[in-house]
Amino acid sequence: MLQRAYAGLIAAAVISAFLASCSATPKTGIAHGEELFQNCKPCHGEAGHGNLELRTPAIAGLPDWYIIEQVTKFKGDLRGANPDDMEGHRMRPLARTLYHPGDIENVAAYVSKMPSQWMPPTFTKGDTAAGSVTFNGVCITCHMADGKGNKDLHSPPIAQQSDWYLVAQLNKFHRGWRGYSPEDVYGGQMRAMALTLADSTAMHNVIAYVKTLPH
Ligand code: HEC
Ligand code: HEC
Repeated sequence: MLQRAYAGLIAAAVISAFLASCSATPKTGIAHGEELFQNCKPCHGEAGHGNLELRTPAIAGLPDWYIIEQVTKFKGDLRGANPDDMEGHRMRPLARTLYHPGDIENVAAYVSKMPSQWMPPTFTKGDTAAGSVTFNGVCITCHMADGKGNKDLHSPPIAQQSDWYLVAQLNKFHRGWRGYSPEDVYGGQMRAMALTLADSTAMHNVIAYVKTLPH
């Protein structure tokens, strides 16, 4: 049932992206980005805060450079291409609708200016003390002590993001669904870090700690 509803969402978003691309007076810059964001809303929500049922992350307020990098990876099959990666398969067709020069940059500029929201924890399991040891021993180097990321290292902010999404991504890196290609240098660096987490418990612990960071 969810699959069918999802197929409808993807089709509707792809069609409306096509119609928007036919509009007579094309907008530019951030105004164009706002127009393109209408196609993101069905899945990422009006305010861009994501949706657990649709397994979509919060994207509002993510840095523009990170949005550009990730959408480009979805488009170029560096992310979401594994046949078992259901969520990745839903995002990939949308990345492909952004094919005019400037589309990705404009939607990224708009989304990055939307107010971000700290997503409250959804799971209760997770040993934050054990997670703190991992975070402050490993993850801190790139995601920084406050979990807000580092542009120079291409590492995104994670402190604000939904815990279930962060754990899902750690699993994807672990399985080689993300960061698997030699072309994807930064994804590969993160994959190596995910591989230092032995199992699901270690992933839940470190993300439970991330959710204790001040916001
Ligand atoms: C059909 C549903 C759907 C639509 C429409 C959609 N997305 Fe997504 N998007 C997803 C899903 C599902 C994921 C999570 C993929 C994963 O788990 O790897 C995602 C992930 C992302 C990410 C990665 C965020 C991160 O922190 O890793 C970005 C950026 C993104 N989407 C931007 C957009 C933009 C911009 C649009 C509009 C042009 C859009 N999406 C439209 C479903 C959608
Ligand atoms: C060497 C630098 C580095 C270290 C250390 C590192 N990361 Fe990352 N992390 C990255 C980069 C770069 C990305 C973006 C990868 C991409 O482009 O796909 C990332 C992405 C992520 C994501 C996906 C976020 C999203 O929005 O999709 C999660 C979750 C994450 N890191 C958690 C961790 C955890 C937990 C640790 C510690 C065990 C850690 N990282 C250590 C560099 C690092």
